[in-house]
Amino acid sequence: MIVTTEQLYEQAYGKYAVGAYNINNMEQAIGLFEGNARAEAPFIVQISKGARSYAGVTMIESIIRAAEKMFPKNIFAVHLDHGDEQTCYDCIDSGFYSSVMIDASHEDFEENVAITNRVVKRARTKGVSVEAELGKLGGVEEDINIDEKHAMLTDPGDAERFVAESECDSLAVAIGTSHGAYKFSGGQGLHFDRIAAIQELLPGFPLVMHGSSSVPREEVERINAAGGGLDPSARGVDVNEFPRAVKLGVTKVNIDTDGRLVWTRVHREFFRDKPEVYDFRKPGVIMVEEYAGFIAGKSEKLLSAGELENVRSAVGG
Ligand code: G3H
Ligand code: 13P
Ligand code: ZN
Repeated sequence: MIVTTEQLYEQAYGKYAVGAYNINNMEQAIGLFEGNARAEAPFIVQISKGARSYAGVTMIESIIRAAEKMFPKNIFAVHLDHGDEQTCYDCIDSGFYSSVMIDASHEDFEENVAITNRVVKRARTKGVSVEAELGKLGGVEEDINIDEKHAMLTDPGDAERFVAESECDSLAVAIGTSHGAYKFSGGQGLHFDRIAAIQELLPGFPLVMHGSSSVPREEVERINAAGGGLDPSARGVDVNEFPRAVKLGVTKVNIDTDGRLVWTRVHREFFRDKPEVYDFRKPGVIMVEEYAGFIAGKSEKLLSAGELENVRSAVGG
């Protein structure tokens, strides 16, 4: 059952984070829905502009509709990830999306507010909610000084003003993470002091953590042992930090890279070990199973496992 992103946030805020997973194909969709069914976790399936162009809009949306039929007990929202203004309008008008992300974080503050507010106004007419982004999600390297580090993170006062002026429904904040497999080089982690300061000014307001893949060391090592060439220093977010972030208002946690690593590891190992096979369905079956296991495990760490029936009672499904 597709619900609004707001309905998921209302249940989750302060208690658990809703996992928001990017999908690009049928195998990821089945693994995602199966994993959340097993864990009894509510979730968000998110589609990037890249996914819309890779699979085609009709195909990627149809895959999600098919997965909904295959897994009728699941409760989830459908979200546009990192949209530009026009793609947000396309998704709002399509009637299929629970929420859209307008990513105007590369613009200056005033322009980001203006673009976000235009999208919010259009979204309101269709009952769609809007995630915006403020700050630089560049990752914080060890060799830059403390002042430079903090300048890259979302400023709490700016966040408060941005939410008031843009009227967005949730905010992606820069709190030390970055996209991809190379987030931290060393002992860094999430900037809890910054998340706490933002929550103090925006109590009860859902914060979104992009770049939340954990980039498990074992996955990187297995990919490289099977012929891959990833930088072995690849690091992600420590999953044991999720609960603390949840208490500070992080309500949506975005994960894409980890799924790509599962796909790559399964396929590299399969074709290394069975070079005579060319039936791609053989590794496909393994990929779906491994991805489902990964998703189920992740929802435990996000504390969303076992919350499905609570959401169902709340939304009346
Ligand atoms: O934050 C970006 C997501 O990981 C989506 O990546 O644009 O390559 O589909 P993509
Ligand atoms: P990762 O690259 O850490 O998976 O982040 C994904 C993301 O933020 C999608 O919006
Ligand atoms: Zn992102």
